[in-house]
Amino acid sequence: MSQESKAQTVEGRGGALLPPEVIASIREYFPRYPNTRAVVLPALHLIQEALGYVPKSAVLELANVLGIPASDIEDTLSFYQFFKQDRPLGKYRIWVCRSLSCALCGGENLLDYLRERLNIEPGETTADGRFTLEAAECLGACEYAPAVLINETLYPTMTREKLESVLDELSKQDINGHG
Ligand code: FES
Repeated sequence: MSQESKAQTVEGRGGALLPPEVIASIREYFPRYPNTRAVVLPALHLIQEALGYVPKSAVLELANVLGIPASDIEDTLSFYQFFKQDRPLGKYRIWVCRSLSCALCGGENLLDYLRERLNIEPGETTADGRFTLEAAECLGACEYAPAVLINETLYPTMTREKLESVLDELSKQDINGHG
């Protein structure tokens, strides 16, 4: 398990996993929602953005901040496939749509290509922490099938060749950026 790295992260933050600025941002939501339960979803987004994932200890801290049972937060987490709980997301999160329109236009082939190239299955992250692969339900871009989303960027009518060059480009940027 990634318990050790989680523990290190916690230690690095002086025992508290959630950075104070994240807790402050969560509290800023309070007046805008009818109750603290309604803050769970936006708070989870803030946490995942800050930590790259939402580990168990962050759930416990959030429950404390919101004054609700941790099980309520776990319910929300299990409903949305968007949040990661086991380990931080890769730098690039790649969503390949495999709903009907995209599947008919080669979405599954793109997924197979990425499985092979990255040597991971959907839901997993490469060992170097660069890429997380996800099989997505409709990304809302059916007229551009097959669609792929990488972080915030939507790539319409994706082909294996285009995907290959996008990944090459991202890898190159990382090498140039991080030495
Ligand atoms: S089916 Fe793929 S974007 Fe809608």
